[in-house]
Amino acid sequence: MARINSITELEEVRKSILSSRDSKKPCITICSGSGCHASGSREVALSIEAEIVKQGLSDKVDVKKTGCHGFCERGPIVVIHPEGICYFQVKPGDVPEIVSQTVIEKKVIERLLYTDPNTNEKIVYESEIPFYKNQERLVFGFNSSIDPKSIDDYLAIGGYSALAKVLSQMSPEQVLEEVKRSNLRGRGGGGFPTGRKWGESRNAPGDIKYVIVNADEGDPGAYMDRSLLEGNPHSILEGLTIGAYAVGSHEGYIYVRQEYPLAVENVSIAIKQAEEYGLLGENILGSGFDFTVKVHQGAGAFVCGESSALMTALEGKAGEPRPKYIHTAVKGVWDRPSVLNNVETWANVPLIINKGSDWFTQFGTERSKGTKIFSLVGKITNTGLVEVPMGMSLRDIIYKIGGGIPGGKKFKAVQTGGPSGGCLPEELLDLPVGFDELTQAGSMMGSGGMIVMDEDTCMVDVARYFLEFLTDESCGKCVPCREGIRQMLKILTNITKGKGKEGDIELLEELAEVAREASLCALGRSAPNPFLSTLKYFRDEYEAHVKEKRCPALSCKELIAFYIDPAKCQACGTCARKCPSEAIIGGKNLIHMVDQTKCTKCGTCFEVCPPRFRAVKKISGEPVPDPIPEEARIIVRGGKKNE
Ligand SMILES: Cc1cc2nc3c(=O)[nH]c(=O)nc-3n(C[C@H](O)[C@H](O)[C@H](O)COP(=O)(O)O)c2cc1C
Ligand code: FES
Repeated sequence: MARINSITELEEVRKSILSSRDSKKPCITICSGSGCHASGSREVALSIEAEIVKQGLSDKVDVKKTGCHGFCERGPIVVIHPEGICYFQVKPGDVPEIVSQTVIEKKVIERLLYTDPNTNEKIVYESEIPFYKNQERLVFGFNSSIDPKSIDDYLAIGGYSALAKVLSQMSPEQVLEEVKRSNLRGRGGGGFPTGRKWGESRNAPGDIKYVIVNADEGDPGAYMDRSLLEGNPHSILEGLTIGAYAVGSHEGYIYVRQEYPLAVENVSIAIKQAEEYGLLGENILGSGFDFTVKVHQGAGAFVCGESSALMTALEGKAGEPRPKYIHTAVKGVWDRPSVLNNVETWANVPLIINKGSDWFTQFGTERSKGTKIFSLVGKITNTGLVEVPMGMSLRDIIYKIGGGIPGGKKFKAVQTGGPSGGCLPEELLDLPVGFDELTQAGSMMGSGGMIVMDEDTCMVDVARYFLEFLTDESCGKCVPCREGIRQMLKILTNITKGKGKEGDIELLEELAEVAREASLCALGRSAPNPFLSTLKYFRDEYEAHVKEKRCPALSCKELIAFYIDPAKCQACGTCARKCPSEAIIGGKNLIHMVDQTKCTKCGTCFEVCPPRFRAVKKISGEPVPDPIPEEARIIVRGGKKNE
């Protein structure tokens, strides 16, 4: 790779890359993000490469391994360009047919297409699948078209042109102004205005300043930062370099958790390539601006995503938060001004510079501009990463993009904002997603986790689950968080086990207030959110658990029981055969019964009882009917007792 010494040379390199490419040449792209990797995309990619050689097509067809497309549950995903024909759940055995039929003959293979679960319609093109069609993929879109290990691919889509613009046409103050005008707010948690943070750092005294990418991403179920870093690492490097220029920093860090090996690999390759091209290092593009970036692998503690804890970890100490009387933008890593932004925040920066703040502010709401990537998971038909304009309603995200709740179940709640976010009920489905709207409703945007829950989810148990996570992840430095959340967890666990007492809810509220007011960092301060939001919207469930020892969702094991309705049992024996605890009292032509002393409440009998009988019942808060004597268990068929 030759070093690029000026902006003119950069444009020449870009032109030569584009002229060496034929946009009409067939290209098979294989998603090689972590999700598709887990479902076997590597083997598919190897098969495609081998098949192309076997069929003598090496000069006629390109093969490209891209980043995550977002629809990971349907992986491995293969898209054939230029048509954009999209195949899901591809196996190595499908490859010869894909090459001979689709690539050469231009014929579509029906069985590999997406089938709309509502209409049963087969959809040929990725862009027409409802999951994608209703998104606005400004930041995430390029993931599916470029090879993240190729800087030339990034240059071909206009990469580093924002950096070139900044270095050649804009002063640091002008960059700062543009970012401020865009109203970009941090995508990592609190939604702090990015331009304001940069300005604080720029104006802070000191010659040495740092810019940092927060790729810790510890929220359970969230993986948008991982996918961006894996799939388009140069966009983050470009944003970071622009930020460094605006702030007056010459050193940057990417703090990424060790459990993200592909993200670490791809961003490390990207740094090396950018250095070789002279897009990082000394005298970038001949502008006189120097900037270097290092990758720091975090050990994977949730609290290390918090700004001061992350900076302490970066200094080589145990990752614990510290008081922030002075913002880290002024006094951060080694007490020097340090700008920390989330992966997605940085990835927005080149777009804002290239297209302008006026373009950016046309997306979103009054106070939340641009788009947001959410990790849509849980009880939802289409799970995956979705990027939507701020202001889209929860309903549209869940039903139009997510395809609604599977299995004919009823929607119950959506949890947004990660473990310290909140659960929002059906009445709030029309709430537009924005930083302030979610906070006002008792939840938050967080980094973009969105977990959908159906009628079978117990909201008390959800609060217990998140508090368990936060108890494990609390660093233990301050008492309100360390002891407060632990006590809350104890009480919630008791409630879900039917040991709740009068006064427990009030005690939980008191503990929540103390943790909220007195914890050192936002982990403790926001930890009560799962409890407070579920109490606000589902108080009746708490009361049923405490007062009636009943779980209305029929979910808490200690509060439920299974029994077989004698009027419905047909003695088919399915439950007896499948029960792993031998807890079914059966017999030929005898009504079956659950032996409550052996039942572990695994629910297998309930699941396997044929739908035409539906004889197994799940109950809570009511006594289990008494066992039936053997003579009364004989099933009468056609007016006659069976032999
Ligand atoms: C316990 C805790 C964990 C956090 N984890 C992350 C994280 O994984 N990624 C992230 O970008 N921000 C995380 N944050 C928010 C950061 O402290 C910080 O606000 C953010 O990185 C700033 O970037 P932004 O302004 O671009 O959002 C976390 C905050 C807390 C309290
Ligand atoms: S990893 Fe392939 S779609 Fe996400």
